[in-house]
This record gives sequence, C-alpha cells and structure tokens, in this order.
Amino acid sequence: MAYAAFRSIGAYVPEKILTNEDLAKMVDTSDEWISKRTGIKERHIAAKDEFTSDLGVKAAQKALDRSGVALEDIDMVVCATISPDYFCMPSTATVISTKLGMKNVTAFDISAACTGFVYILSIAKAFIESGMKKNVLIVGAEKLSAITDYSDRGTCILFGDGAGAAVISATEDKSEAIIDVHTGADGEYADLLMTPNGGSGSAHDAVDVEAGSCFMQMKGNETFKVAVRTLTKDVQEILKENKVASDDVKHFIPHQANYRIIKAVGDALKMREEQVVLTVAKYGNTSGASIPMAINDIYESGRLQAGELMLLDAFGGGLTWGSALVPFSPKK
Ligand code: ACO
Repeated sequence: MAYAAFRSIGAYVPEKILTNEDLAKMVDTSDEWISKRTGIKERHIAAKDEFTSDLGVKAAQKALDRSGVALEDIDMVVCATISPDYFCMPSTATVISTKLGMKNVTAFDISAACTGFVYILSIAKAFIESGMKKNVLIVGAEKLSAITDYSDRGTCILFGDGAGAAVISATEDKSEAIIDVHTGADGEYADLLMTPNGGSGSAHDAVDVEAGSCFMQMKGNETFKVAVRTLTKDVQEILKENKVASDDVKHFIPHQANYRIIKAVGDALKMREEQVVLTVAKYGNTSGASIPMAINDIYESGRLQAGELMLLDAFGGGLTWGSALVPFSPKK
C-alpha cells in the first residue's frame, strides 16, 4: 500500500508591512487594543499587481526545491484559497501550475477558508493512498487584503496576505506516513463569517459588486467561542483515535487567527509553551496560508527536524474545521 509523506515546506510573504499603528490611522482602533485582543502586531500586504497565484508560486517554488521531487513528477496541484485570482475560473491552482511551467497536471482549488490547508492535505493523502497520484503540490495562498473592508475595524485588523506550500509524496515506509487527517463542516453557522455579496446567492446587483462590496463580514465574538469549543474537541478526538499523547507532539501548529484562541485551545490540551508554534504577531490571520507559513517558520529557523510529529488544527468560515497528525518526512 502507498502511504502519503509530508516531504517539504515553503512560504512567501509580500514585502509591504501594515502595522497596528498604520491601521490606527485608518479606523478607530489602537495598537494596544489589537495587541491585547488578538496578539497581532503587523501583517503583510500584497502589491496591487501581485496576485494570489504569484504568492503561491513563490511559496511552491521553495517547497519544490526542498522536496527532491522533479517538477515533471508533480502530478497534481491543489490550492486552498478564498481570495482566488479570478472569481470563477480559471482556478488559482491552474494559474500556479502554469506559472511554474507544469504541463498536464490535475489542478483545482478548494474553498474551506482558514481550514483550507488541512482540507488539501486530506485530499493529497487520499489521492496518494488510492494510488491515483504520486506527488501532489498543495498550496494555501491568500490575498485577503483584496476582500477586506478597510473601513470595518472588526475585521481589517485581523487579516494579512501570504502563501505556504508543501509537497506530499507516495512512500512505502509507514513510519514516514501522515497518520491521520480530520475534516468537518457545519453550514448552520455560515452567517458567522461570510462574503455575502458577489455570488449567485447575492442579494446585490452587479453595480454593488463592481463598487467593491465582496468583502468579508464576521461576527467575531460568536466565532471566537465556537472556534475554541470546536478546535479543542476535534484535537482531543484525533489524539485519542490515534492513541497519541499530547506529549508525543513536538510541534502544535494551530491556525493563526488570534493568540487568545490559540492559548485557550493549547491550555485545554495541556500543551507546553515550547510545543505551540506562534506566528500570529507578525503575519496576522492569512486564512488557508497560515498553517503552512507557520510550518515554514519553524523549518527555516531550524526548529523542525526529520521525523518530528506535527499536530495541525484549524477553524474557519463555512464553518469548517480540521486537524492532522503529520510527521515531517523529508526525502532521505
Ligand atoms: N479596535 C477597538 N475596538 C474594537 C475593535 C477594534 N479593532 N473591534 C471591535 N472593537 C470594540 C467593539 O465595538 C466592542 O465595543 P463595545 O463593547 O462598545 O460594543 C468591543 O471592542 C468588544 O468587541 P468584541 O467583538 O466583543 O471583541 P472580542 O474580544 O471578541 O475581539 C475579535 C474581536 C478580535 C474579532 C475576536 O472576536 C476574534 O478573534 N474572533 C475570531 C476570529 C476568527 O477566528 N475567525 C475565524 C477564522 S477567519 C476565516 O475563516 C477567514
């Protein structure tokens, strides 16, 4: 049987930094409020002519270079994004694969908001274990600044742009294999976090859409409570089902939405401080890109070594959630 191994990681953030002080000049907020309520200090913002696919390509190139897998051996590209280059088509995964010079790959996007990376990890695992694909490039890429309302202080302080990518490959060595991936969704909570306009269900006409009304709206406080409850439960389940103790996890890598959510979930799971990976202060919430960006951070700082077990967990619009137990398995 083929198993799926997490071979490599890469990430990219655009050059421009938007600080809390910058935001305080735009809306009625302060560095003190944002830092205390979210843990965010700054976030990166893409240039006008820099698209989600451009961020994704730069992250993917690093992941490919580090994977030991030749470009022509990648047989599928999946992108998780809620800020695609184009509204309906082509998919951002298709654009990324072409910009990377790939020919004849399967390429598609998925929409699971901040849980996107865990979803595409599950897709890569399933395609590889079924024998349909051998090397899958997964990319979480977001230009959230394109769908953020910079007059709404409840959301504009949270989000940033960036991308992360990983190469998942077939292996026969079970010790290298991704152990498990959980994914879930509950549309009953859809209204907590949504972009209500612009789609076929939109109450607004084309004029509104052109005027830029395709922005994210969020009931932050309710989302916060559901996030803590759902994440804690899901992570407890994946650990129990796989007979893994919190102590066996080297790196707990939660979606980086809010320091207080990460702290509450980490405490409930009895994670020690050194297990918890935190990047929210410097990148803010980059939705589907946040987990691979955080993995890349510990990789580039030398904290992530071959064989170490990562526990991923995420929560986002939909509502969606997911978790994964993933050993880091670079090619030997
Ligand atoms: N600056 C100053 N004051 C503010 C700001 C701001 N930027 N934003 C809100 N406030 C005010 C509110 O108006 C309110 O004032 P009031 O008491 O006079 O009415 C007060 O601060 C408290 O507001 P809350 O919304 O209750 O603040 P809370 O502590 O919940 O923090 C936050 C808000 C940061 C948005 C938090 O709720 C949160 O992080 N929620 C979860 C976000 C999340 O995880 N989303 C899911 C993933 S995102 C995705 O899928 C794309």
